[in-house]
Amino acid sequence: MSKNSVFVLIWVLLLSEHFRLYSSNELCSFTKTKFKCICGFRVQPYTPFPVHTADCTNIGLTDFPKDTQLPNIEDLDVSFNKISILNHDDNNFLNFVLRSLNLSFNKIVYVFQDFFINTPNLSILDLSHNEIVYFPNSNVFRGLGNLTVLNLSFNKLSTLPEDIFTPLTNLEELDLRYNYLGATLMNSNDFFQLTMGFPRNISTLKLDGVGLTSLAYGYFNEGHHLKYLSLSDNPLSEIPSISFTIEHLDLSGTHIAIISGKYLPYPSLKVLKLNRLKRLEEIEHYAFFNLKVLEELHLSDSKSLRSFTDLAFGVLSENTELPLKRIHFARTGMKTLNSTYLNLFGTMEYVDLQHNPWDCNCDILWLQQLNGSLNRDDNIRCLTPRNLRSKRIMHLSDKDMPDCFYGENKIQKTLIGIFAILVGLLMLFILYLLYLGPFHQGHRGVGPGSPYQSTSIKLDPSEGEDTSR
Ligand SMILES: *[C@@H]1O[C@H](CO)[C@@H](O)[C@H](O)[C@H]1NC(C)=O
Ligand SMILES: *[C@@H]1O[C@H](CO)[C@@H](O)[C@H](O)[C@H]1NC(C)=O
Ligand SMILES: *[C@@H]1O[C@H](CO)[C@@H](O)[C@H](O)[C@H]1NC(C)=O
Ligand SMILES: *[C@@H]1O[C@H](CO)[C@@H](O)[C@H](O)[C@H]1NC(C)=O
Ligand SMILES: *[C@@H]1O[C@H](CO)[C@@H](O)[C@H](O)[C@H]1NC(C)=O
Ligand SMILES: *[C@@H]1O[C@H](CO)[C@@H](O)[C@H](O)[C@H]1NC(C)=O
Ligand SMILES: *[C@@H]1O[C@H](CO)[C@@H](O)[C@H](O)[C@H]1NC(C)=O
Repeated sequence: MSKNSVFVLIWVLLLSEHFRLYSSNELCSFTKTKFKCICGFRVQPYTPFPVHTADCTNIGLTDFPKDTQLPNIEDLDVSFNKISILNHDDNNFLNFVLRSLNLSFNKIVYVFQDFFINTPNLSILDLSHNEIVYFPNSNVFRGLGNLTVLNLSFNKLSTLPEDIFTPLTNLEELDLRYNYLGATLMNSNDFFQLTMGFPRNISTLKLDGVGLTSLAYGYFNEGHHLKYLSLSDNPLSEIPSISFTIEHLDLSGTHIAIISGKYLPYPSLKVLKLNRLKRLEEIEHYAFFNLKVLEELHLSDSKSLRSFTDLAFGVLSENTELPLKRIHFARTGMKTLNSTYLNLFGTMEYVDLQHNPWDCNCDILWLQQLNGSLNRDDNIRCLTPRNLRSKRIMHLSDKDMPDCFYGENKIQKTLIGIFAILVGLLMLFILYLLYLGPFHQGHRGVGPGSPYQSTSIKLDPSEGEDTSR
């Protein structure tokens, strides 16, 4: 038997099994002559274990499908339906073998406790973009010991039961973005007040836009595996302290006003996002000095940021080598940038300096040497002085800024001028010496009528003493 025929045989066996399984249900039905399935059903044959996938998106479901309707499905997508409640009445427990369940973009308002109790293999659960306001108690996720990814973003959660994530011992990634969690902080929501309320092993935590104003000191210290944390669009005014394992940190859109090295001591941080900081006015000296492995820095869209210190990464010399590869400095209030960054930026993969209000004087011309790594250099233009407004910095030339371009020539000319004058003076002096100086014995010797003689006679010490009296 050839490989192909073996494969066909397996395929037929699989199909025939499904004939048997789906013969009496609504979502998928098989008869000897007809295969009808509302959900797009697939077997992914090339994975080590063929994965049975059902795509039941956008078919107007109002209830969660019953086990018997989709048996043996491991990967179920029921997003974009109208499911409103997750309930397991009349023993309608969820399918045993599910590994991945996508319930996003439904109308879920309520999840009964223990709904997931019979799905020990479930690894990915997406409940995002629903209307969940609260969970009844901390037993909602019981039984999900193998869950690694939980997405609860874009719901209406304003509070979370204290131990709700405790059963999720293997959870690695939790997405709670854009819920109303911070709004009730005042009403003693313990979740963000004591130490981290999340599973200790979590590595990715997304808490953007949840209304957090502050976090208890050391809140994240117990997250010893935390690598990715996004806290953007929260009214935080300070950079919270995070565990030293952090690699990716997003604080965009917060109320942070000063960036100080004191709050950024992270030796593993690779990506730092500080975009859209409306109140950011200052980046202190050595702010990023401790970030020894930083590869990507985002500082765009902070209009109040008018300058970027030449010491943000410490003292830069020609030999300084930083792992920085990408820098995003677009649409800030920066008017100038110190040429000390020439070596650093010149070796980077990507430098974005678009739409800053550049003040075009001689100090800015070094940017022309960055032509290789600059992103969209056509958007790097002068704002001031007036006569250069909107001029591309890359196109600035001697006509626009004669002082900068001829600076060196001028010095040379001046030097030559001075030199010429000196030579002239020297010539005059030699002439003087030759024709009028004391060595010209022919005309002016020391003789009786000469002034030299009379002076020598008058040089009498006693007479000198007389006059001093
Ligand atoms: C979970 O998956 C394993 C394979 O990884 C399988 O052997 C086991 O039967 C599954 N258990 C359930 C309850 O589906
Ligand atoms: C769930 O479906 C939505 C909509 O198609 C998709 O954006 C999302 O990535 C899916 N979730 C997962 C975990 O694959
Ligand atoms: C994870 O799934 C396996 C089956 O693959 C099961 O035996 C085990 O109990 C589950 N782990 C937890 C913590 O639920
Ligand atoms: C929910 O989060 C998971 C993990 O980050 C992601 O794969 C999925 O796409 C998210 N769902 C939506 C609808 O964005
Ligand atoms: C955390 O992860 C480690 C391995 O990374 C594992 O040995 C440990 O059991 C996990 N802890 C919990 C509570 O799951
Ligand atoms: C640029 O930075 C260097 C090194 O820190 C400093 O000495 C110099 O004064 C700065 N130049 C300007 C124009 O600020
Ligand atoms: C950058 O400009 C210099 C001249 O100013 C030129 O020699 C060099 O080839 C340019 N490099 C790139 C990548 O355009």
